[in-house]
Amino acid sequence: MAYHQPPLPFAENALEPYISAKTIGFHYGKHHQAYINNYNNLVVNTPLDALSLEEVISISAVDSQKIGIFNNGAQAWNHTFYWNSLSPNGGGEPSGELAAKITQDFGSFDKFKEELKTAAATQFGSGWAWLVLDGTSLKVVKTGNAQTPSTNGQKPILTIDVWEHAYYLDYQNRRPDYVASVIDNLLNWEFAAENFQSA
Ligand code: FE2
Repeated sequence: MAYHQPPLPFAENALEPYISAKTIGFHYGKHHQAYINNYNNLVVNTPLDALSLEEVISISAVDSQKIGIFNNGAQAWNHTFYWNSLSPNGGGEPSGELAAKITQDFGSFDKFKEELKTAAATQFGSGWAWLVLDGTSLKVVKTGNAQTPSTNGQKPILTIDVWEHAYYLDYQNRRPDYVASVIDNLLNWEFAAENFQSA
């Protein structure tokens, strides 16, 4: 079954001034679409084509012969998760059980934000910063290139793409400024709460 790119959950210009329509247009329309096209081309006419994207990611993550399938499939999945992690009405703070759990596991919401900023800023090269549920604990983790927390048994709650293509048109080399803008203004805490509740 081919993986079809889900619609962007907001208009391309909806995240301005924090992320421009130009960035979203290239990122969603070119980069994400290319990962999906490559993935579909690699799995078509193979037994993997009968499986879900999540199943193929899990299988290809532990098979070095399938590194191309893993890289493109995981990037297809990571980007869909990233679009949902952002919202024009985002930022601010979570509420309810997730807020209480963040305070319990990080000490405070501000400490969580600092940990996420540090992870996103210090991921060397391309990759992702994540809030995940690892067992019964919330953690901030970073992954390189296409790596994704589910292959480590962690459940993703939110992510920030820190590949240069996510911010270079708007922030050039200032990745920390992009990360701060996303955390303060765009993180979708409703999506995060759904992921936390379903864990
Ligand atoms: Fe990206």
